[in-house]
Amino acid sequence: MYTYSAPAKVILFGEHAVVYGEPAIAAPFAALQAQVTATPAPHGSGLSIIGAANGVTLHVLPANDTPDNALIYAAQLVLKALDKAPPDLTLELRSNIPIGGGFGSGAAVSVALMRALSAALGMPLSGEALNSLVYKVEQLHHGTPSGIDNTVIVYEQPVYFVRGKAPETFRVGMPLTFVVADTGVSVSTRETVGDVRRLYERDQAHYGGIISEIGALVRRARSMIEASDAYEALGELMDVNHDLLRALTVSSAQLDHLCAVARESGAYGAKLSGGGRGGCLIALVEPDLAPSVSAALRKAGAAQTWLMRLE
Ligand code: PMV
Repeated sequence: MYTYSAPAKVILFGEHAVVYGEPAIAAPFAALQAQVTATPAPHGSGLSIIGAANGVTLHVLPANDTPDNALIYAAQLVLKALDKAPPDLTLELRSNIPIGGGFGSGAAVSVALMRALSAALGMPLSGEALNSLVYKVEQLHHGTPSGIDNTVIVYEQPVYFVRGKAPETFRVGMPLTFVVADTGVSVSTRETVGDVRRLYERDQAHYGGIISEIGALVRRARSMIEASDAYEALGELMDVNHDLLRALTVSSAQLDHLCAVARESGAYGAKLSGGGRGGCLIALVEPDLAPSVSAALRKAGAAQTWLMRLE
């Protein structure tokens, strides 16, 4: 019996624009995890995946078609890459990552499952192989993913990510404390990414301009994160990034309100994180203020809050 896990992720700057080739900055978020336990099964029982939360059992058959189910697809991709038949094995999945919450739940589940299955087959996948297989599952979830979620979650390091390029890590010049809050509203990233695409195609000059502005802001944010004592300026960039995301129509009244509450309770800045319209938001805070900002967010309706440190 083996258990493999993968963390959630949080995008600090640059979501949506990253789909169009602009940079984005993201970090793993270890407070939330997906876990898969692999247990040998009786001879002839084949490969099954059990969802611990819903008790649903899926049977994995070798197949050439792309199945609708992302878990089955993830398992089949591993079998194909390793040229193996389905083993007699039960994979049990547990995750405390909110689905549709902007935390990269789909990618984390795929990473944990692929790690468990490849290890049980005695052929653990390298980071690079895992990353490219998880990207394929992300395409099933998202349509046209940038690849940022799978990259951060596979390598478990903060990244400065540009689509199609090798991810870069960066230096954190000053310890950063974020309050992360879940709105409790689950939204499909495929839908928000698709809506931004339609707007972009309708008015490339306007929406392309917003996307380039986000890109320029992310480049500035990186140099501030690498500097020291740039908390105020970094917080302001978060506010501006949030406004630009609102101009891309991916915020919501609740996200705008919760970001305002975070700022009013003393955060340096706040923004939605991930696909938007729901999901999560992040606020940059002084460590001392983290408890009161978290309490204010929960009072204003956030479903859950956590602390995230980056140093
Ligand atoms: O909502 P999430 O956690 O899947 O984040 C998606 C980030 C986007 O930039 C909106 C999409 C992408 O593929 O990069």
